[in-house]
Amino acid sequence: MKLTIIGAGNMGGAIACGVANGSIIESFKIICSDRSVEALEKVKQMNPTIRTTSDNKEAVGKADIVVIAVKPWLTETVLHEIKPLLDYKNQIIVSIVAGVTFEELIKFLEKEQEAPPALFRLIPNIAIGAQSSMTFISAQHASQKQIDYIVSIFNELGATLMVEERQMAAGTALASCGIAYALRYIRAATEGGVELGFHPEQAKNIVLQTLKGAVALLQANGTHPEAEIDKVSTPGGITIRGLNEMEHAGFTSAVIRGLKASK
Ligand SMILES: NC(=O)c1ccc[n+]([C@@H]2O[C@H](COP(=O)([O-])OP(=O)(O)OC[C@H]3O[C@@H](n4cnc5c(N)ncnc54)[C@H](OP(=O)(O)O)[C@@H]3O)[C@@H](O)[C@H]2O)c1
Repeated sequence: MKLTIIGAGNMGGAIACGVANGSIIESFKIICSDRSVEALEKVKQMNPTIRTTSDNKEAVGKADIVVIAVKPWLTETVLHEIKPLLDYKNQIIVSIVAGVTFEELIKFLEKEQEAPPALFRLIPNIAIGAQSSMTFISAQHASQKQIDYIVSIFNELGATLMVEERQMAAGTALASCGIAYALRYIRAATEGGVELGFHPEQAKNIVLQTLKGAVALLQANGTHPEAEIDKVSTPGGITIRGLNEMEHAGFTSAVIRGLKASK
């Protein structure tokens, strides 16, 4: 199978490198197309065996899967440009563009007397570059075989969840924006660690290991976070004192409000 990615920026470039490191599509069967020479050079630096071009039409011609990874407002222009070369019977189109619906994609791709292609909407997060994405996938006009294939590619780049299209915005808030919120917690805890007397680098590493521990515990025990919190909160002790102080400052409410604001 050959994979073409139109738009080799933060996400497109990360997907190309992630897929190239996986076992399903060989790196020399991946083409990145971008109007930015710098973006293509960055991909080449990360993996010289990935092919690059600035010609979207050429890139699309021989692909089995075409991934659209440009900014939302450029989606229509790019799809109109490549539409004449797309073979709807044999090619799979994957859009990672946030907020552009199947209805809009089908409108942009409409060809007279031709059924739409197998279409996927996919929302990864930036951790896809580290094979640790949370990726939401929705499909239209796709066979189960095509769905299984796309899921298998992205399972190698983290975890995937098939969702209905209406859940995409919530998924984006929780996992794509959510990674920024998790990073902000790490920053805050690191700054707290410095105030407590650790060097910044040490403090960051302590916070990262602590978070890894929290994730590992929940995954190993299958428990609710509050059950694990109860285990470390001695009545009258320092953990509950710290937690209550955070809640007085609005911790849980701030997280929920932030997530809802980003939907
Ligand atoms: N970042 C996230 O966490 C995240 C998560 C999920 C989904 N997404 C979606 O992923 C998409 C890409 O985001 P990004 O952060 O990777 O953007 P980005 O870094 O700006 O990458 C997009 C690339 O596409 C290039 N491009 C623009 N027009 C083009 C054209 N006509 N033909 C070929 N290449 C073209 C851009 O070049 P120029 O710089 O010259 O414009 C840029 O190099 C967005 O639609 C976003 O909604 C992002």
